[in-house]
Amino acid sequence: MTFVVTENCIKCKYTDCVDVCPVDCFHEGPNFLVIDPDECIDCTLCEPECPAEAIFSEDDLPDDQMDFLQINEELSQSWPVISEKKDPLPDAEEWDGKADKTPLLER
Ligand code: SF4
Ligand code: F3S
Repeated sequence: MTFVVTENCIKCKYTDCVDVCPVDCFHEGPNFLVIDPDECIDCTLCEPECPAEAIFSEDDLPDDQMDFLQINEELSQSWPVISEKKDPLPDAEEWDGKADKTPLLER
């Protein structure tokens, strides 16, 4: 099993999740983070830390977020590791909760 970052992280990228991960499995892109499924140890710590409620365990992934399983797996192979919290994106509050952000994901 793994944990998965889903759509609501896009254009928010709060990064609170990064601080609690014991194995540095978060990888950073321009406006989104992903979890490397091969590194995640299912510790559950990151899920409650995300202010955007964007992190789910693979088993609890909502039906409309299933694509993110593959997106996390794919992008974690090429994006660099992020291991320290940083400022969220400038308009994070404005974008938090907006629907249909997936086309805005920058790779
Ligand atoms: Fe890291 Fe634990 Fe979250 Fe997996 S569940 S990404 S190991 S904090
Ligand atoms: Fe994204 Fe939430 Fe982490 S918005 S960067 S998954 S704290």
